[in-house]
Amino acid sequence: MFANRILSGMRPTGSLHLGHYHGVIKNWVELQTRHDCYFMVADWHALTTNYDEVAIIEKSIWEMVIDWLASGVDPEQATIFIQSKVPQHAELHLALSMVTPLGWLERVPTYKDQMDKLNHKDLATYGFLGYPLLQAADILVYKAGLVPVGEDQVPHIELTREVARRFNNLYGREPNFEELAKAAVKKIGKAGKQFEQLRTRYLQDGDGEALLAARELLAASQNLGNSDRERLQGYLENKGKIILPESEALLTAASKMPGLDGNKMSKSYKNTITMRETPEDVSKKIRAMPTDPARVRRTDAGNPDKCPVWQLHEVYSGDDTKEWVKAGCTSAGIGCLECKQPVIEAVVREQQPMFERAEKYLANPNLVKEIVFEGCHKAELVARETMKEVREAMGLGY
Ligand code: TRP
Ligand code: SF4
Repeated sequence: MFANRILSGMRPTGSLHLGHYHGVIKNWVELQTRHDCYFMVADWHALTTNYDEVAIIEKSIWEMVIDWLASGVDPEQATIFIQSKVPQHAELHLALSMVTPLGWLERVPTYKDQMDKLNHKDLATYGFLGYPLLQAADILVYKAGLVPVGEDQVPHIELTREVARRFNNLYGREPNFEELAKAAVKKIGKAGKQFEQLRTRYLQDGDGEALLAARELLAASQNLGNSDRERLQGYLENKGKIILPESEALLTAASKMPGLDGNKMSKSYKNTITMRETPEDVSKKIRAMPTDPARVRRTDAGNPDKCPVWQLHEVYSGDDTKEWVKAGCTSAGIGCLECKQPVIEAVVREQQPMFERAEKYLANPNLVKEIVFEGCHKAELVARETMKEVREAMGLGY
């Protein structure tokens, strides 16, 4: 397992807005400095629901990648790639489909939810049922330790772990596993004895700290190849070889980026500010926002709690400005347009560097393609290694 590796993805289904920025991408930009990050354009996933509107997908891909780069995702630090261009995603998805019970997929809460929500579409398809399994393949093909996701995606990570466990149970039990594991312990050298002791403490006394210490010992030992390390990870817990490690969800604090009408910002509510909205349009959109309906006239006092503009102040304003809004609104001391001005300025200020970063990519679209193709290549090298192991484990090593 690559504990420090992160895999995350986004579906290219239209232009990105500030909800994506505050909810996901800002977090990526921070993670890329500390982790080995793989950021994926989930185009197969887009097809599961948009199979009848494919034209929008390609356009969205390049726009979306420019938005990532504009936000500060750095191709020097993170790997940016397109899912369908790395064929091992589809290959692992198929392999995993052999061992995934239908009931597991039917029970994933997003399955019925999305079917109901997108009821104008026929989603009674094989591909849509497999959506979370494809996501599991995305994660497992990189053996990613961490997956940054929002609350709604947690069941998909749970499924990923269950599928990995089942796979390891089915295929990690090599006929001569014990012997291979014992030989691998010898390869650790001096610490091998300590490893055996920790293992015994864990297996006999259920000592969780011993388990953690043994895992650390494995991670730190230089003499082990991947295969032996995976054997010992399994041996430690009296299981077979861990071919596909169980990833953890890295929960991003639920960002409730409010839209222009006070609902969550979302394309389907038509209440968005896009990531590279011009300052004129930002100003126009925010000036047109509804406010506390009690403020019919300038002299009527209002209540920020009943006003969507206040929610934007909560995201963008410091304490001083917020005090100014509260006092001014409840006493009718300020007008609503006046109140909106600091928000307009803050959004424009936030977007300024995005425009600047986007400029060179807009001027030279080939630059974006090069970044993505390089990312695909790098991703494929990793994915290929995993598929080699998966094929061997499943008896397809010929
Ligand atoms: N399902 C995710 C979403 O709708 C997108 C996605 C696809 C993803 N594959 C992934 C996210 C792998 C994390 C990891 O947001
Ligand atoms: Fe909303 Fe500000 Fe107007 Fe109060 S003053 S109603 S918070 S826009």
